[in-house]
Amino acid sequence: MRAAIPFLGMSDDMPQDLIDVETPSLIVDLDRLDQNLSRVAEYAATHGLALRPHVKTHKSPFVAEAQLRLGARGLTCATPREAEVMSEVCDDLLVAYPPIGRARAQRLAAIPPAVRLTVALDSADAATEMARAARDARREVGVYVELDVGMHRVGAATVDAAVALARHVTESEGLIFEGLAFYPGHVRERMSEQDAKLESLDLALERALERFHEAGLPPRVVSGGSTPTLFRTHELPGVTEMRPGTYVYNDRGTVATGACGLDDCALTVLATVVSTALPGQAVIDAGTKALGREPSRGEEGEGFGMLLDRPDVVVSRMSEEHGVLDLSQTSWRPTVGDLVRVVPNHVCVAVHLHDIVHGIRSGRLERQWPITARGRGAPTT
Ligand SMILES: Cc1ncc(COP(=O)(O)O)c(C=O)c1O
Repeated sequence: MRAAIPFLGMSDDMPQDLIDVETPSLIVDLDRLDQNLSRVAEYAATHGLALRPHVKTHKSPFVAEAQLRLGARGLTCATPREAEVMSEVCDDLLVAYPPIGRARAQRLAAIPPAVRLTVALDSADAATEMARAARDARREVGVYVELDVGMHRVGAATVDAAVALARHVTESEGLIFEGLAFYPGHVRERMSEQDAKLESLDLALERALERFHEAGLPPRVVSGGSTPTLFRTHELPGVTEMRPGTYVYNDRGTVATGACGLDDCALTVLATVVSTALPGQAVIDAGTKALGREPSRGEEGEGFGMLLDRPDVVVSRMSEEHGVLDLSQTSWRPTVGDLVRVVPNHVCVAVHLHDIVHGIRSGRLERQWPITARGRGAPTT
């Protein structure tokens, strides 16, 4: 099942070693990426779960193709831009975001008709909008009805509302009711402490599935899954598909849930120490515009990232282009010009701030790839 990322060779202008990379830059350890991809592909295959990874983490066709080669059923996207970019490498896309607004719905419907397109939605308004755009584009669009199972973000609030929406979808020309979607984004405890929330999720899903069957609308697909709950997805009866995203690179937040170790963090932000003028701290050239400003596990005060090889050193404060390393817990004293690798709190946010990724193996730069689906882009029509 393990598949290496293909070696495409170094381009002439690519830096030969980390020392030559202009910082701040994204660095991906290709061995770790391979391992993360393979581990989850194997888990999905072992448990008979369809894997539909969320591309919001990497936004790169290069990584998407590796996921598909390892058996992913299709891909999950959030934005029209992601769907457009991924339609070039995948013929089965889920857009797990309500297609509200004519521009968004039309842009999605314009995805090449050879690509199977499904959207997740939670309102009749979204269904009506998507159906209109689908008919105008002379195509069909699949629909997952989204149910809120505890995150309280999107999703029908009750099973009755979800069933009514599914019925509306079946009556809408241009749409096909495909299944039920949920996102357990509220489960961010360590894996061993997720039991109570997973039990109530179990119950909620069981009740929902019963009602859908009673209503004569059995969902063909039940789609869920996140990185923190990833390896417990098989415990949720009825789930047929999972959509983890963060697992490709992992981050400080994933380490905190126990879904991975620090050794599984494949992506770091390479930064340079630019000042040690004040005692007790060092300043790096990675601030909010390179790392994002995500609190650790939703809590303030734990910093915005930590050093890969010195977890006791955190980025405690940031400006746009400055990150302040707190040296109070270490005897290490960096000097100006030193390179450091920062594990971001939330890797998906860090990735979308950059244009390219540098892939390294055994400490040597092996290849680079663009983050093609970052930003909003322009409609391809
Ligand atoms: C709808 C949906 N599905 C799947 C995912 C992937 O979850 P994770 O980032 O925990 O891998 C996300 C993440 O934001 C999401 O919003």
